Amino acid sequence: MDFSQIKQKLDNYSQTHLLQFYDTLTVEEQQNLQRQIESIDFSLLELCKGGVQEAKKGNIQPIDALSLDEIEKNKAAYYEAGIKLLRQGKVGAVLLAGGQGTRLGFDKPKGTFRIGVDRELYIFQCLIENLMQVTAQVNVWVPLMIMTSDKNHSDTVEFFEQHEFFGYPREYIFFFQQEMAPSVDYNGKILMEGRDTLSMSPNGNGGWFSSMVSSGVLAQVKRMGVEWLNIFSVDNVLQKMADPYFIGATLLSGKAGGSKVVAKAFPEERVGVMCLEDGRPSIVEYYELSEQMRYEKKNNGEYAYHYGVILNYLFKIIDLEKILKDKMPLHIVEKKIPYINQQGELIKPQEPNGYKFETLILDMIHMLDSCLAYEVEREKEFAPVKNKEGVDSVDTARELLRKNGIEI
Ligand code: UTP
Repeated sequence: MDFSQIKQKLDNYSQTHLLQFYDTLTVEEQQNLQRQIESIDFSLLELCKGGVQEAKKGNIQPIDALSLDEIEKNKAAYYEAGIKLLRQGKVGAVLLAGGQGTRLGFDKPKGTFRIGVDRELYIFQCLIENLMQVTAQVNVWVPLMIMTSDKNHSDTVEFFEQHEFFGYPREYIFFFQQEMAPSVDYNGKILMEGRDTLSMSPNGNGGWFSSMVSSGVLAQVKRMGVEWLNIFSVDNVLQKMADPYFIGATLLSGKAGGSKVVAKAFPEERVGVMCLEDGRPSIVEYYELSEQMRYEKKNNGEYAYHYGVILNYLFKIIDLEKILKDKMPLHIVEKKIPYINQQGELIKPQEPNGYKFETLILDMIHMLDSCLAYEVEREKEFAPVKNKEGVDSVDTARELLRKNGIEI
């Protein structure tokens, strides 16, 4: 695209303010700005006209989960089926590490946070060590794809290199970058972070699959024979990836995918819960649960909406490709977005001042025909590092690591 085409494009979308400092930039800065403008999907901007309105949820019903007791009874069969699929090299693991970890207030990639107290132990290291427990059992390396973002890619890759990938073979690790989306003010104008820099942010935790496709990593692992992907978040230091029991249970259930869940600690807990929405698997956020649903009980006395998700899902690539074709819903989220004003001064707002665009992994679950809710023991598999202190914090995660006999 040459400059006049760029100008025309901006004109069409009423975004010519992006060139307000253009004449003051060096040639290199001008090219940088042009590249960013070229990469933007401007059709997004239409979506926030008239304010934000989330799509209404459908008819919500409880979902049955495969409980710990039931899993215990069929453990051997699940393990055998899972191990077989892993040995055939059909499962890949995808680590979502493109987030900004704002709540933790750590300015480096979250995975590089040192969770160890008396020894050097990092979040990424915990995850790799957990995965290596499985690879030692199956005797094959599971391809591990790590999604970073524009903001943390080089720091993440450098960190892994410095630590020699914590013993995982380099040829089985694939980094890819999450696509970015622009941030806009309440009038739909794209914000700028600098005179030659647009305000862009990672496009949400549902952006991983399209980014895997566009980076070419999906094609690479498909050539290796991978058919299933186990997705998990960076911040749960007890996260078990490529878990043979979970894989086997999902496979034998005949369902399209699987989601690990934990029994909620109390009905008001702030976690998304698995449910059925219009007969399809779905996740309702804690704030979407009505008072009545929160305390509703089933005949067996258990809370009806009892199983919280921990961001550990299993998908078949073939379904993900279909989901991508069908287009995922885009969410518009109000945020505090730093920007430069007309004088070029950087402003860090104290209150939300605009919108970011995100796709969410929970929408992928809803787009599956069926999904197994697979219960895991909370104390053994759920130690999220979300906040600096208090609930789901560094301290609570450390305590859980200790409880699980992991030296920190
Ligand atoms: P969260 O939604 O908890 O976000 O991410 P976060 O960035 O880690 O933390 P806060 O909300 O800013 O404090 C859940 C998982 O999804 C990944 C995160 O890295 C984490 O593993 N994620 C989130 C992405 O990979 N990309 C995103 O755009 C958002």
